[in-house]
Amino acid sequence: EASASSQPASGEGTLADRIQHRRASGSAAPTPVPLTAWAERIARIPLLGAGTAANVIYDFRPGIGAADAFPWQRWRRIVGWQDPVDQLVDNRAQYRENAVRRGQWDALLGPIETRRAIAAWLRRSRAVRCEDEQILIAGSVQQMLALLARLLVEPGQGLIVEDPSYVGFHAAFLAEGARLQGVPVDQSGLRVDALPRIDPTSVADAAHLAVVTPSHQYPTGVTLSLERRLALLEWARRHGVLVVEDDYDGDLRLEGQPLEALRGLDDRDEVIYLGTFSKALYPAMRLGYAVLPRWLVEPVARARAASDRHPTWRDALAVARFIEVGELERHLARVRRLYRLRRDALVTALHDHLGDVVVIGPAEAGIHLLAGLPDGTDDVGIAHNAEQLGIEFSPLSPHYYSTSPRQGMLLGFGALPEEQLARGIQLLAPLVRAAVPNSGEACRS
Ligand SMILES: Cc1ncc(COP(=O)(O)O)c(C=O)c1O
Repeated sequence: EASASSQPASGEGTLADRIQHRRASGSAAPTPVPLTAWAERIARIPLLGAGTAANVIYDFRPGIGAADAFPWQRWRRIVGWQDPVDQLVDNRAQYRENAVRRGQWDALLGPIETRRAIAAWLRRSRAVRCEDEQILIAGSVQQMLALLARLLVEPGQGLIVEDPSYVGFHAAFLAEGARLQGVPVDQSGLRVDALPRIDPTSVADAAHLAVVTPSHQYPTGVTLSLERRLALLEWARRHGVLVVEDDYDGDLRLEGQPLEALRGLDDRDEVIYLGTFSKALYPAMRLGYAVLPRWLVEPVARARAASDRHPTWRDALAVARFIEVGELERHLARVRRLYRLRRDALVTALHDHLGDVVVIGPAEAGIHLLAGLPDGTDDVGIAHNAEQLGIEFSPLSPHYYSTSPRQGMLLGFGALPEEQLARGIQLLAPLVRAAVPNSGEACRS
């Protein structure tokens, strides 16, 4: 009320005028300044990880692992192990800061100890072709996607994604104004035969980046066949496209031998490989890693210099030690056993309560599965109603971008003990049945 009409409106006058106006108005609310076009784009993108119901009892969100199985004591010992050498750690961090200022940008990629440990681990566990100097340690896959989007995609330029795909991919690239081109997925993964013909020399806005999840397609859970992996690399070469392989849960194969990473087949340094500790350890760790083609290392380091400089040094060093002493391998062996039991409990509960309604997707890897629903079901509506019962899961349809969405429930089984999984599905089943058109008839296969 006090805002006198004689005062300049927000955004008008000199800076001094505006500051005076703000003080004079006596308003507790700060005066906003105009947001950028980037901010406007991002405001239109549905927020990731938002809307979590406060009282989730049955947490079926995909990608949430067993926090109770994390070896906290061992982790504490490893982090504590650094204490006697704290001064040394600090000195080294300081030394690296100085090195960065002198133009030795490789320190921006993270501690060399961690990069070395991860490179060795990736070569050993995922047959990834990489050298220490190609490894970037970042806060997460999401952060790396954001960096890559800024470095590699101009507004209006195409980006190839699987359809359906992770909404985190959509967010990172839509924020930069990319034009998403969804390519359908079937039982053998990305339909390589449906990839577009691209002539990068004639069309300025042609896609030159494709983001894929070959080991465990997100969200459907299918695995890209070896034949298609080779065909994808061949297509990428022919069309001048750089492939980004998101191997977000590649070390959580629950059945059979994992197919080697796409970056294991790449003998020309043409695939960007992304990994994260969010699934293998826990999401709040916020540490991920990339293997970058050699030509891209310096541009990424420079982009980093203008954002967070480097990852949190202490946690990154603790991860290096965790890998070196074999704890990561031991932990993964333990949780794979646990996740098999939880996956089996979820599959059994789905058969028991919704066997005639859902199509249970492949569940040979990772910590979620897709329960497909018949066309005409409103999966978002079910998710909304389920929240009232303290049940949270992720509906399938929002993961589609180009093709017409199918309906389904992405059900994480990492975070819940077996009885809870069974009870949650029992509670959810009536909601699902009520939403399925002509419930009782057999579901399409
Ligand atoms: C396909 C995919 N990639 C990446 C991530 C997240 O990784 P980060 O936590 O490192 O951003 C997720 C998380 O659910 C995911 O589903």
